Amino acid sequence: MSKLLVTGGAGFIGANFVHYWLAKYPQDRVVVLDALTYAGNMASLAGILEQDNFRFVHGDIGDEDLVATLLREESLDTVVNFAAESHVDRSIHGPDPFVTTNVVGTHSLLKAAKKVWLDGGSGRPHRFHHVSTDEVYGSLTPEEPPFSETNAYAPNSPYSASKAASDHLVRAYHHTYGLEVTTSNCSNNYGPYQFPEKLIPLIILNILEAKPLPIYGDGLNIRDWLYVEDHCRGIDLVLQKGRVGEVYNIGGNNEWTNIEIVRLVCGLVDQGIAASEILRQRFPHSPACLGNKAESLIAFVKDRPGHDRRYAINAEKSRNELGYVPQESFETGIRKTIDWYLANEDWWRAVMNGSYRDWLEKQYAD
Ligand code: NAD
Ligand code: TYD
Repeated sequence: MSKLLVTGGAGFIGANFVHYWLAKYPQDRVVVLDALTYAGNMASLAGILEQDNFRFVHGDIGDEDLVATLLREESLDTVVNFAAESHVDRSIHGPDPFVTTNVVGTHSLLKAAKKVWLDGGSGRPHRFHHVSTDEVYGSLTPEEPPFSETNAYAPNSPYSASKAASDHLVRAYHHTYGLEVTTSNCSNNYGPYQFPEKLIPLIILNILEAKPLPIYGDGLNIRDWLYVEDHCRGIDLVLQKGRVGEVYNIGGNNEWTNIEIVRLVCGLVDQGIAASEILRQRFPHSPACLGNKAESLIAFVKDRPGHDRRYAINAEKSRNELGYVPQESFETGIRKTIDWYLANEDWWRAVMNGSYRDWLEKQYAD
């Protein structure tokens, strides 16, 4: 039986991980620590909050005393650190919270783990797993091979620079103090509970409301997309079989340009609306209700400053050492994702009515 501290467990991937973990390991205990920033949402943990083997703590990973107390009083043996500021565009407009949470916050978490698990010679079995991103490796040209774990770090945005710094601190706490760490660097995720400032949910929801679909630059930037549950499965494998001190890349072997993704989502949403009278009643402004195509909403807008051209992951190490293979195809994963947003209007309406709308309007007003 494991006892996990899942930081950022009310965010997109963290919440998916908690659902995944407690369904697979119902005998385990999970404590979520989440600051409930604009990206954190208790509604993403619906159905879990009442379970006896679950506890939600509203707090900051930067609160070292709180984290140490939780590790001690709950006898936790595993930290899975999802807590972060995660959106590149926000990091361009305001980098400070990225340094505060991703760098200083991760360092506080490491200090608390060291204090409870190592200092005083407790020698308790433990694992500190840090969730990171492929963006730390920088940008690829079309010809370059995908990122492997030995690529040099070359982060280009304040977001990726802050994640890179946190990765280095995690590594240092292993080499210097012997903290038992693992790190995973993952490509772009999509799926349920993703905050609709990220490309795929933004496009789905904007189509439903007939809002422009903003494509940065020429739309030919490439990302390697992974269904979120496959990421959770990859982290599970790292926790079960990963070697301490090692880094594992997790990816989907699934490279798409942004414009291809947007066209795919447009086509699938059009089909869904055309096939369902109920959806036409619920989303009367959606282009398919008026006999138009969602693609007509595509709007090429000013490029993101410093926009990385291409990310792609070489996940061979994870496959060879851990047996990691993504299970969801892009076709099925995108369909599931669209269906989830169609079925969970209350979730995204609540999110859209919150601070996000104000932030988005301000961004486009600049
Ligand atoms: P998210 O923005 O959806 O969620 C982040 C969560 O962390 C939120 O619940 C937020 O309230 C919480 N949080 C923020 N600051 C905190 C703090 N100081 N203390 C405690 N909680 C805090 O992010 P996500 O997309 O779920 O990403 C999770 C992790 O995975 C991040 O570390 C991110 O860098 C990494 N990652 C994300 C992707 C992706 O495509 N989304 C890909 C690779 C890696
Ligand atoms: P995003 O979901 O923000 O993830 P990341 O920047 O971490 O890769 O963006 C994915 C890609 O989509 C990225 O190349 C930027 C682009 N993009 C747009 O073209 N328009 C948008 O409105 C957004 C949010 C992203």
